[in-house]
Amino acid sequence: MRIGVLTGGGDCPGLNAVIRAVVRKGAGIYGYEFVGFRDGWKGPLEGLTMSLGIPEVRGILPRGGTILGSSRTNPYKIEGGVGRIRQNLADMGIDALVAIGGEDTLGVATQLHDQGVNVVGVPKTIDNDLNATDYTFGFDTAVNIAMEAIDRLHTTAESHHRALIVEVMGRHAGWIALHAGLAGGANVILIPEQRFSLERVCAYVESRFQSHYAPIIVIAEGAQPDEGEMVTLDKGLDAFGHVRLGGIGEWLAGQIEARTGKEARTTVLGHIQRGGTPTAFDRVLATRFGLHAIDVVHDEDWGKMVALQGTNIVRVPLAEATTELKTVPPSFYSEAEVFFG
Ligand code: F6P
Repeated sequence: MRIGVLTGGGDCPGLNAVIRAVVRKGAGIYGYEFVGFRDGWKGPLEGLTMSLGIPEVRGILPRGGTILGSSRTNPYKIEGGVGRIRQNLADMGIDALVAIGGEDTLGVATQLHDQGVNVVGVPKTIDNDLNATDYTFGFDTAVNIAMEAIDRLHTTAESHHRALIVEVMGRHAGWIALHAGLAGGANVILIPEQRFSLERVCAYVESRFQSHYAPIIVIAEGAQPDEGEMVTLDKGLDAFGHVRLGGIGEWLAGQIEARTGKEARTTVLGHIQRGGTPTAFDRVLATRFGLHAIDVVHDEDWGKMVALQGTNIVRVPLAEATTELKTVPPSFYSEAEVFFG
């Protein structure tokens, strides 16, 4: 069998570990041939390939990013895109695709499977918001990076008697904020799933200063204040037509200073959370996903995605991963309330 492999969407520590496991088991045990598609769905769309075999995956396990490159190209948003992909796959003699990605990449994989393309999915996102899997690789690394930043901010916050705000990734789900906030001992954790009261945050900041402690606030980029306090963060579109995210942390610092008279500073962790070497947890999870994904290909069990349920790697229909996002349950979020107030 000749198998194409691609990585799509935002990159994530552990992608190379998946690619390595797929190729090592696929070529070494099953004797399959591989083609690396470059830059997500752009690869099969434009016929951009690289050779992918055991020599190419040597030494990549600890490396962040993806040797295949990534993009957010969606063939369903391009006139004739799907037809071009099908033609290129046929011309190159590709029997199956392993698509490693998040909601968008796996959404495309689902649709292609429905149209008869042999696809197997591997879930990926630092945000941990994909349904049907307990964890995605990359999340643990991102949480550890954010936790280390929070640890460092505690000491400078105390020295300067400032409120320090850490803005972490998470447009729709607050998993990184909640885990990093709990691990780093943040006082206030603000997530997209639950609007926050600016008044309450400011009252808390004042009370912390009264007891001579500098407050640390972790805020997910998608968090929003109550309707009444709602602001429009007019950041416009970037040169690629993407909505610019982030900025809520800076807005919150301004509000705290204006309302409490206390100094506040914001640190936006941004893409640092996605870069660099994966943690041991992410390397193990990514490797297990890769080893199981190639078994799914071997069984010709098309349209499936590998997922972690408890400690087991299972197969679920691709569609299950993309129908709805996995957000933080209110019961888990409320556990962190004890540190806020
Ligand atoms: O992969 C998801 C994510 O990390 C989000 O948390 C974040 O909003 C987004 O990617 C930003 O990605 P980019 O800047 O690459 O478009």
